[in-house]
Amino acid sequence: MQRAGIIGHPVAHSLSPVFQGAAFAACGLDVVYERWDTAGDQLAMRIQSLRASDCLGANVTVPWKEAVIPMLDEVGGQASVVGAVNTIVNRDGRLFGFNTDGAGLVAALRNEAGFDPAGRTFLLLGAGGSARGIAFALADARAARVGIWNRTPSRAVLLRDALGAAGYTCEALPEPLPGFDCVINTTSAGMRGGPDPGGTPVPLAAIGQPALVVDIVYAPEATPFLAAAAQAEMNVLGGLPMLIYQGTLAFEHWTGIRAPIDVMFDAARKALAGHAP
Ligand code: ATR
Repeated sequence: MQRAGIIGHPVAHSLSPVFQGAAFAACGLDVVYERWDTAGDQLAMRIQSLRASDCLGANVTVPWKEAVIPMLDEVGGQASVVGAVNTIVNRDGRLFGFNTDGAGLVAALRNEAGFDPAGRTFLLLGAGGSARGIAFALADARAARVGIWNRTPSRAVLLRDALGAAGYTCEALPEPLPGFDCVINTTSAGMRGGPDPGGTPVPLAAIGQPALVVDIVYAPEATPFLAAAAQAEMNVLGGLPMLIYQGTLAFEHWTGIRAPIDVMFDAARKALAGHAP
């Protein structure tokens, strides 16, 4: 038997064990995917343990996506410019870091909403860790324009500058503006169990009539922001597809085989249905 798992603090509510476990089983792979709740003083030892020959690697979640980087042997692709790793792969005792969060969102846009970012304009609401990965991935996917609005404006400026240092152009907006093709809520406003479960990041009226409204929050399936957009007859995409696609990309890094995406969606939806709306 081989092992994989999710490293974070806390990880009790993570859906990854549910859909990754289902994916390994569906592919006939003898892999157990565990919750590895890891406090800060245990992080180095936890990462070291991934080098064992029976370990495929791990996912990394809040708050350790940045902290793990110096503990790895190589950080590839977007992860090094984004400055955050959500997937670690063990290859013969060497640890490779990747970031599949932004690519997961781009895959979700393309495959679940039929929306290719190339040549389109985006308004990101929020400038935290999630916004960072998404902003880089959208710029990389040749979005025509990326505007970032954040409740605390200085963080939007910092993110704009980080993208600029990597050779990408985007704008820090003092106010959310209408006129973008796609608006993405990357904040925790509206998230079950978060600091503002009943809230919206901005009033819907502030964003005009975009072709697509996305919320990366997946519980509840329709946040107040997404529900208001759907009510106003806008096209909407919830957060579950991004979660699943970042997971399929991680699975493919570990195994080298195509992830069984339908199995992963089904397992996650069943687990989410077990919660009250
Ligand atoms: P994550 O890694 O999930 O992005 P984070 O780095 O803590 O988490 O960032 C949370 C984001 O949600 C920030 O952009 C935060 O805005 P501030 O920088 O002003 O704190 C945003 N956010 C959280 N609650 C919000 C709310 N009720 N309305 C608007 N923005 C909110």
